[in-house]
Amino acid sequence: MIDDILDRMTLEEQVSLLSGADFWTTVPVERLGVPKIKVTDGPNGARGAGSLVAGVNAACFPVAIALGATWNPQLVERMGVAIAGQAKSKGASVLLAPTVNIHRSGLNGRNFECYSEDPMLTAELAVAYIQGVQSQGIAATIKHFAGNESEIERQTMSSDIDERTLREIYLLPFERAVKKAGVMAVMSSYNRLNGIYTSEHPWLLTTVLREEWGFDGIVMSDWFGSHTTAATVNAGLDLEMPGPARDRGEKLVRAVRNGEVKPEAVRMAARRILTLLERVGAFEKAPDLSEHALDLPEDRALIRQLGAEGAVLLKNDGILPLQKAGLGHVAVIGPNAAEARVMGGGSAQIAAHYRISPLDGIREALSNANSIQYAAGCRNNRLVNVFSGEMRVEYFTGRNWSGSPIAVETADVGEFFWFDLPSAELDPSDFSARMTAFYVPAESGEHIFGMTNAGLAKLYVDGRLVVNGFDGWTRGDNYFGTANVEQRQSIHLVAGQRYEVVVEYCALGSTGEGINLTAVRFGVEKPLGDADMAEAVETARAADVALLFVGRDGQWDTEGLDLPNMRLPGRQEELIEKVAAVNANTVVVLQTGGPIEMPWLGRVKAVLQMWYPGQELGHAVADVLFGDVEPGGRLPQTFPKQLSDNSAMTGDETVYPGRDGHVRYAEGVFVGYRHHDTRGVEPLFPFGFGLGYTRFSWSNAKASAVQMGSEGLTVSVDITNIGDRRGSELVQLYVRPLAPTVERPDKELRAFAKVQLAPGETGTASLVLGPRDLSYFDEKTKAFRASAGRYELLAAANAADIRSNVTIELAKEWIGEASDRAI
Ligand code: BGC
Repeated sequence: MIDDILDRMTLEEQVSLLSGADFWTTVPVERLGVPKIKVTDGPNGARGAGSLVAGVNAACFPVAIALGATWNPQLVERMGVAIAGQAKSKGASVLLAPTVNIHRSGLNGRNFECYSEDPMLTAELAVAYIQGVQSQGIAATIKHFAGNESEIERQTMSSDIDERTLREIYLLPFERAVKKAGVMAVMSSYNRLNGIYTSEHPWLLTTVLREEWGFDGIVMSDWFGSHTTAATVNAGLDLEMPGPARDRGEKLVRAVRNGEVKPEAVRMAARRILTLLERVGAFEKAPDLSEHALDLPEDRALIRQLGAEGAVLLKNDGILPLQKAGLGHVAVIGPNAAEARVMGGGSAQIAAHYRISPLDGIREALSNANSIQYAAGCRNNRLVNVFSGEMRVEYFTGRNWSGSPIAVETADVGEFFWFDLPSAELDPSDFSARMTAFYVPAESGEHIFGMTNAGLAKLYVDGRLVVNGFDGWTRGDNYFGTANVEQRQSIHLVAGQRYEVVVEYCALGSTGEGINLTAVRFGVEKPLGDADMAEAVETARAADVALLFVGRDGQWDTEGLDLPNMRLPGRQEELIEKVAAVNANTVVVLQTGGPIEMPWLGRVKAVLQMWYPGQELGHAVADVLFGDVEPGGRLPQTFPKQLSDNSAMTGDETVYPGRDGHVRYAEGVFVGYRHHDTRGVEPLFPFGFGLGYTRFSWSNAKASAVQMGSEGLTVSVDITNIGDRRGSELVQLYVRPLAPTVERPDKELRAFAKVQLAPGETGTASLVLGPRDLSYFDEKTKAFRASAGRYELLAAANAADIRSNVTIELAKEWIGEASDRAI
């Protein structure tokens, strides 16, 4: 059928398939019955078309680092199935997920959106996720291929990575997703790889992906990430996104006519697009692109379960789980207590069905017998709190708010990120909007108004210009680098008085300078000061236990910018120190999208890392704190003692953040624990670390064979739950070559298994290894090779806690084939 359609298509029609129609859909060819399909972000939910921040509600699942911490592919596969259901509710056939870039620096703004520093853990979870999604007839899109480990100069930076490092670390999750999960789509990254844009990289997109690994799906560009006509098509980039065509369309037709692109290359790409449509069932039934909110009890339950399964208990001096009975007065403190920080920022955002804050979750979990006192203490948000309250939004043609409005809407959040304007009469590069709202402060005093805008904007309070995001506007760090740095101004407000807040926004017009988005975000807050800090300390002093919720928010952990450092922002470290000084039972609950330094660690009783676990945050927190559920998580990323212990943080700016448009991955394969363990740099918490509420004994570790053959072997370990609660133990299997012929990491993770056991129960963890698991990539012969000799197989509870050690032998050197599917 596909051949038949291709035969009947004109060149122009084939070409039309190779660019999107708009932001989220493909181009139909109605004459030949080729339907339009929709794609949607993203990893932790299916957002649908429309605004990044105010679309149709969707189920909000944990971010990828929280899934990385579950080490539980079965559960992640179930999430994939559920997300596919969400994609269907948004009329989408293709999900733009998972994100499998590697935690290289710990400062990547998208660290939260990626699973792990380890390629094997990343790959296993990505494979499970993709299998779940694709089992429901929805295509997954693994991204960003490849070398997108930072947001700095993200549209242009060249990641300079040697081939061994690429093959062993950065490409592995993609390789497995192709070979083991049959992923249907790949998204090229924004960056260049060794000087060439990945969207026009023939070696990456054709030699490796298609010829070696046998990929038969489509490659699409990241949004606005393709820049040429012939080069992208010839390299193997099938779909330019978003649409309408920028570098294709007529330009591509001309390139075919003048011989720069062969007609067969166009036909091949068009064939792949049609094959994708066929795979997602679009020819059987043209997709209904309409969107609705689907809030299912089983999704709620799964999200809650995943939240606890990814929760990593980093420290516990016997205080957790808290016994509800007799708990007495509980102080719930910190900037993340009443705010439900459920996800990261950027394109992974969705409009969650609801958000349970930790304070809500704790209130629900405890009976009225407990008195709960709340105090924020300080703030940790990067941008001023977004305005919340009803507002009128008027839209005008032209950029000066004149004439009568073309459309009038209401909104209740002061953030607008327009993909679709409310009327077809409005031109995205030539319109203006006026938002009118009222603000009634609860307290008198200085208030900060803040605004960041992609486009130009002014914010007025009672007719007075307060924030000027118009005159002297320049690009800054928000909205993927298309908006200015947040502009702030503080003014005195009186409690109970009604202030009119008006924001006048207009599009930038065509500047010819990079990507132009249309967005504005404005907010107001009363800054917290010494009195608020003191109130939190007094609240803690009066309580039997102080639960302290600190971390970051999705404006820090976000696409578009990297983090400035690994410290808790604002006055949070001071808050922890002060609370811990007055309350010996202080429990810190962290929410960050990556590692942080913890100078206060010795002063608190327990530390629980919750990441951004989705809409059920508060329930999952309460489940773990009160022991209804085990904290099932183990770190998917090393937490170094200090930033400079990370192998990319050498102080050499060419290695991070990059210089002159290049970032050199000079540490090679020594990423994360591969660096810490090989170089003897002791971490704060090692890779794979996490405590539970019960205890286990390990025994009887053995390998099914002493010789590694082509059929592989199995390592098994018996695990007994010797505590008095149900719980899970994670067995991590690392390989250490005893006589390496090249420089290799001290040990590398090659398999893992989680066992759930009742008190007194014994189970066996079985871990399967093949010869590729002993290998390294040899650049000279361009092959994975394992030299003959002895290898230790280390069964470990984490990278720094090896429980047993079995030595096996490889009798004769093993050399892999690029197309090997057993990997
Ligand atoms: C991101 C992608 C995302 C795309 C569409 C880009 O900014 O890098 O991950 O899928 O936008 O929203």
